[in-house]
Amino acid sequence: MRIFITGHKGQLGKALRASLVTEGHTLLGGDLPEWEMTNADQVMESLRVFSPDIVIHAAALTDVDYCAGHPDEAVQVNGVGTYNVALACREVNALLVSISTNEVFDGRARQPYQEYDQRNPSNPYGYSKYVAEQVVERIAPRYMIVRTAWLYASGGVNFIHKIIARARSGSRLRVVTDEISSPTCVTDLAVALMDLIEIDRPGIYHLVNAGECSRYHFACEILRLIGSDASVEPIHLEDFERPSMPPSYAPLANVFGAAAGIELRPWQEALAEYVTQYEAQ
Ligand SMILES: NC(=O)c1ccc[n+]([C@@H]2O[C@H](COP(=O)([O-])OP(=O)(O)OC[C@H]3O[C@@H](n4cnc5c(N)ncnc54)[C@H](OP(=O)(O)O)[C@@H]3O)[C@@H](O)[C@H]2O)c1
Repeated sequence: MRIFITGHKGQLGKALRASLVTEGHTLLGGDLPEWEMTNADQVMESLRVFSPDIVIHAAALTDVDYCAGHPDEAVQVNGVGTYNVALACREVNALLVSISTNEVFDGRARQPYQEYDQRNPSNPYGYSKYVAEQVVERIAPRYMIVRTAWLYASGGVNFIHKIIARARSGSRLRVVTDEISSPTCVTDLAVALMDLIEIDRPGIYHLVNAGECSRYHFACEILRLIGSDASVEPIHLEDFERPSMPPSYAPLANVFGAAAGIELRPWQEALAEYVTQYEAQ
């Protein structure tokens, strides 16, 4: 199949490229600075020329704290940019697989959010992705919205690398207990996305590594895996000042993917494999 990946240089985009190439698909990617999704003409032209069967839309302004300070820009990029992608998918009749986030929920639930639970974003990033979801639902002729959470990938700096570095440097570790979700390894997500595309059923999906934990619990598990006896001070979100307040309790329940036989392994297993590979580098 011909697959166009927006945001192909990002964490998920890179993992998708690696997985899809080995499956023999023909790929093209769009990403900054050469490809700007807020440029409607450029988006339309690139999809007309490539004529994809599927567009996996992973591009987004993902810096939640930046979005908090620039809420209009967040909607311009994540909302209007997605509108451009959805319009182009309609023009070329491509399936749109749009990646979204647990931050479309407000975090006040008592159990993991299911796919069709009420959305009520509580910060500008979440709002901009909520706009993106609605645009996809209203414009794209065929779509899947795939929400995920707390992605990590090799390379770059992520929560895992920061915890390991701080523990090894003897720095103080303070981590929140009241931000809870589903840590997800991008390579697992990329494989599940390919399986989802294969079954070709439209709708909303939650693809995350199974289970849930707090950031605090996640940090403790990382330290256990590297054999560190560094201690982590449990704190609350209100003690950790940052521009964007995440939803407090926002794990995702995979109901519809599981019904189709698509489930990701528990987050502890994925993390253990990731940390082993990270330590071997
Ligand atoms: N990371 C997470 O924990 C997480 C959790 C839940 C959902 N998601 C969603 O999953 C998807 C992939 O996330 P990710 O972690 O792979 O993000 P990422 O690493 O930040 O990659 C996103 C890519 O999109 C590009 N981009 C940003 N604005 C653009 C624009 N106007 N035009 C074209 N490209 C643009 C970025 O370029 P620059 O780097 O140059 O800005 C980057 O290469 C996103 O839709 C995100 O909202 C992520």
